[in-house]
Amino acid sequence: MHLKDTNILLGVTGGIAAYKAPDLVRKLTAKGANVRVVLTDSATEFVSPLSLQAVSGHSVSNDLLDKDAEAAMGHIELAKWADKLLIAPATANFIAKLTHGLADDLLSTLCLATDAPIYLAPAMNQQMWHAKATQANLATLAKRDVTLLGPAQGEQACGDVGPGRMLEPQELADLLATPSSPQLLKGEKITITAGPTREEIDPVRYISNHSSGKMGYALAQAAKDLGAEVTLVSGPVNLPTPENINVIKVTSAEQMLNAVMKNIQDCNIFIGCAAVADYRVQQKVDQKIKKSDDELTLTFVKNPDILKEVANLSVPPFTVGFAAETQNLKEYALGKLQRKKLNMIAANDVSDTKIGFNSEQNALTVFWPKGELKLEVADKQLLAKQLMLLVEQRYTEQK
Ligand code: PMT
Repeated sequence: MHLKDTNILLGVTGGIAAYKAPDLVRKLTAKGANVRVVLTDSATEFVSPLSLQAVSGHSVSNDLLDKDAEAAMGHIELAKWADKLLIAPATANFIAKLTHGLADDLLSTLCLATDAPIYLAPAMNQQMWHAKATQANLATLAKRDVTLLGPAQGEQACGDVGPGRMLEPQELADLLATPSSPQLLKGEKITITAGPTREEIDPVRYISNHSSGKMGYALAQAAKDLGAEVTLVSGPVNLPTPENINVIKVTSAEQMLNAVMKNIQDCNIFIGCAAVADYRVQQKVDQKIKKSDDELTLTFVKNPDILKEVANLSVPPFTVGFAAETQNLKEYALGKLQRKKLNMIAANDVSDTKIGFNSEQNALTVFWPKGELKLEVADKQLLAKQLMLLVEQRYTEQK
């Protein structure tokens, strides 16, 4: 993993982690990169331009209107020079500016003027990281192919504990040296279920649940980004139909099962993220039920378990389930892993309304026969990327 002859523009914004910038420059140059540094005004309060000039071997700019700097290498030229633009640390404020396309200083202007891929290494207080505005900004940037590196968990400068620490300089240099969108799943076929199912009671009523489809759709996008050929079997949701993904829209659990089975034969990986209704009414009535009685009794029968049917095929794909639990997360998830003969299960605590059903964020604990990994609270798009990388690793090991 090297960066030989790669031009890296390092943008440093004003957070305490800026003091690590000189070390980051060293780690990048040790991999063979040419590094030029741009600071925001507030970054100069945390790290001296002179030390960055000394380690990078180039003058350091922070002023869009600096005549000398513009004469040496104008900002448009600098934007074109960059092969990669890394912003580390990236503050919540800078992330917001980037999201809205502001260009009121040198670094934000460079972000608009470059066509180089942009990498963000966030660093902020954990509460600011969790803030809805920050997460919405990150979700927007992810759609624009801005790559998020981190943040790490741990103790923060302010004494809080949680996500928001900048990754260490060595980790950032290593990540920058790996291909940006490694096509790790190229040639693999993946089927994913998403959203709720609706089970009709009569022509105007149904039972269903609060699944929005966001988690499953984010997984489909993450799998596609890794090069997979993706089929998404989706229950009724209010999400835009993703491009370059084969989307099959269904309503009921039985329709979902049929669509999955039609596509599963040459499929390598199956992920059941849908919140499939466990029961349907035994006898759907053709006319609207009249409210003539004070009480109404309906009899429900069990729906097919799609995940179990896939895992029990004679040649099953690598099968990943989800477990939506409100208590005993580990015990119940491990029970499902074994009972349904799965390769992996991602458990989420759906008693917490900030994550899980119909929310922007989620948190997962992933179990497989001899291991487990906790994926901390984050936007569903970021979590989906992390989960797909884990699925790819386990799938490749078992192939
Ligand atoms: O859609 P979002 O709003 O983004 O919310 C995401 C989510 C909370 C729905 C998702 O993260 C999740 O947990 N999905 C699984 C929901 C669920 O039905 O869990 P379960 O523990 O009841 O089911 C276990 C597994 O069996 C799941 O993989 C489910 O897809 C599968 N199953 C369940 C019943 C059934 N009849 N057929 C199935 O395939």
